[in-house]
Amino acid sequence: MRILITILFMITLGFSQSLFLPLPQKISYNKEKVDLGKNLFFDPLLSRDKDISCHSCHFNYGADREQFSIGTDNQKGFINTPSVFNLPYKIGYFWNGRSETLEEQMIDGPFFNKHEMASSKEVIEKRLLNSPKYIHMFQNVYHQKPNFKLVLDAIVEFQNTLISKNSKFDKYLRHELELSLEEQKGMELFISYGCASCHNGINLGGNSYQKFGTVIELRDNLGQWEDRYKVTGKLEDKNVFIVPGLRNVEKTAPYFHSGHIKTLKEAIMLMGYYNIGVVLTKDEIHYIEKFLQTVTGDLPETF
Ligand code: HEC
Ligand code: HEC
Repeated sequence: MRILITILFMITLGFSQSLFLPLPQKISYNKEKVDLGKNLFFDPLLSRDKDISCHSCHFNYGADREQFSIGTDNQKGFINTPSVFNLPYKIGYFWNGRSETLEEQMIDGPFFNKHEMASSKEVIEKRLLNSPKYIHMFQNVYHQKPNFKLVLDAIVEFQNTLISKNSKFDKYLRHELELSLEEQKGMELFISYGCASCHNGINLGGNSYQKFGTVIELRDNLGQWEDRYKVTGKLEDKNVFIVPGLRNVEKTAPYFHSGHIKTLKEAIMLMGYYNIGVVLTKDEIHYIEKFLQTVTGDLPETF
């Protein structure tokens, strides 16, 4: 019996090692550039009313704690704010993946969006050119005066360093420790129910576009959300979103693109129902939650 259990354990272990990957423990970056990017990310000077920075909406493990963030002029957004951690491992940005690179994301998104910073390229450049601090920093990094393109470059370099490494799960994947029995059970359920068919890889997601409601169809809310259909125009992309990476997920409530689900337990329950087609028991939800809590990493040292 013991041998059988050991064999089963080895199989699950082997499987989990190939389904998931730990985040790198060390990344290389240009320190001065990251420092500049960090200053820009935290600076409300770049918003129209000098009241909102990128950090205002991305302060909590890279996200915030609201259903919808509040931008300049008390403008409320209409879609939940995703985390800016572990971005290099995503295949697209925004919930519907309308940007393929982080530069594009910023051009399309936060600076000019009236729900966010409501700024403009001209305002940003003018303000930076009036700042001795920034003139000095840009000169140091780029040997040029500040301009919008360089702003994007520096913020992207900063964002690429926001890696939440060293979670308990990563240590487990590196064979440095064992999960508790409950966490192990949660991982096995996560794999055997097929959660990992969408939430896999280095980010436990972020690498495919999938429907919310693959098994049980959600009410048709076409038109209400910025889903993948808005990008491709294909009917099968209604209610399709990028699969969120589940790193630090216990810290980034509320959940889903709509931000209307307040607890992780509820999010697990709904995924089980709509995307797996099972009614998970209370115990199963508890174990899966325990497992997902092992995926919380260290705050990046640059944040
Ligand atoms: C008022 C709140 C707010 C501010 C300010 C803000 N963001 Fe965001 N951010 C959001 C929301 C909401 C989304 C998701 C929008 C969507 O998917 O359609 C988002 C998405 C993102 C994403 C994509 C993440 C992903 O996983 O797809 C990145 C990167 C990002 N923001 C970076 C920034 C940067 C850089 C700044 C500053 C220049 C900034 N944000 C300012 C609310 C904000
Ligand atoms: C068919 C692919 C698929 C499967 C299978 C799947 N998910 Fe998801 N998951 C998604 C998508 C897509 C979203 C985003 C949905 C949305 O926001 O509308 C999501 C969102 C989530 C979220 C919320 C994350 C956040 O940051 O808001 C959690 C938690 C989650 N899934 C856990 C699970 C668990 C646990 C299982 C197994 C019981 C599971 N998922 C199975 C595709 C899937």
